[in-house]
Amino acid sequence: MAEINAFSQLLTALHQDHLDIQDVLQVIERELEHMQSGREEGDLLLLADCAEYLHEYANLVHHAGEDVLFDALAAHLPELSPTVAALHEEHRRLRGLTEALREALACVESDTPCDRGTLLALLREYLDVQRAHLETEERDLYPAAAAWSQAQPRPLPRTAGTDPLLSEQTRGRYRALHDHITGRIRPARGG
Ligand SMILES: [Fe+2]
Ligand SMILES: [Fe+2]
Repeated sequence: MAEINAFSQLLTALHQDHLDIQDVLQVIERELEHMQSGREEGDLLLLADCAEYLHEYANLVHHAGEDVLFDALAAHLPELSPTVAALHEEHRRLRGLTEALREALACVESDTPCDRGTLLALLREYLDVQRAHLETEERDLYPAAAAWSQAQPRPLPRTAGTDPLLSEQTRGRYRALHDHITGRIRPARGG
């Protein structure tokens, strides 16, 4: 639709990111359940791919896009400033958790034993914080941003980058994660 402005497109792209991030969280949840059950080891290579994706795409591209959106929104709607400040803080916390996860999973590359207790606790914390974060954004920010975007003729830049889970050209090291999501996570969810 020609009348959709760049701001609306930014919002649409960010919402699509949330759906993809939720798929990755579902992968983590299932591996965590396997590990906690004690019946299965858990696929640490797959978890390392998840952590890398969350670092490379969720933190560096998705959050960068949101930071542009949130700051523009708070400048126009000051009543949203406390929510925006809290979300910026959550982005920082998620960055720290992602780094801790990548460190905890570095054992996979170095072929040394992983500290499973630390890993399980980090995975649980990451899931809880990220899910609550997505819920807050979808409930408290995105509807307000969508309403505001209707009145914005001026385009906003989206930070360059394509979700590697969506693009055949940029999928690279995420092929196994992509195939796992399309083969197991989405069919189990019925979509
Ligand atoms: Fe966010
Ligand atoms: Fe988000």
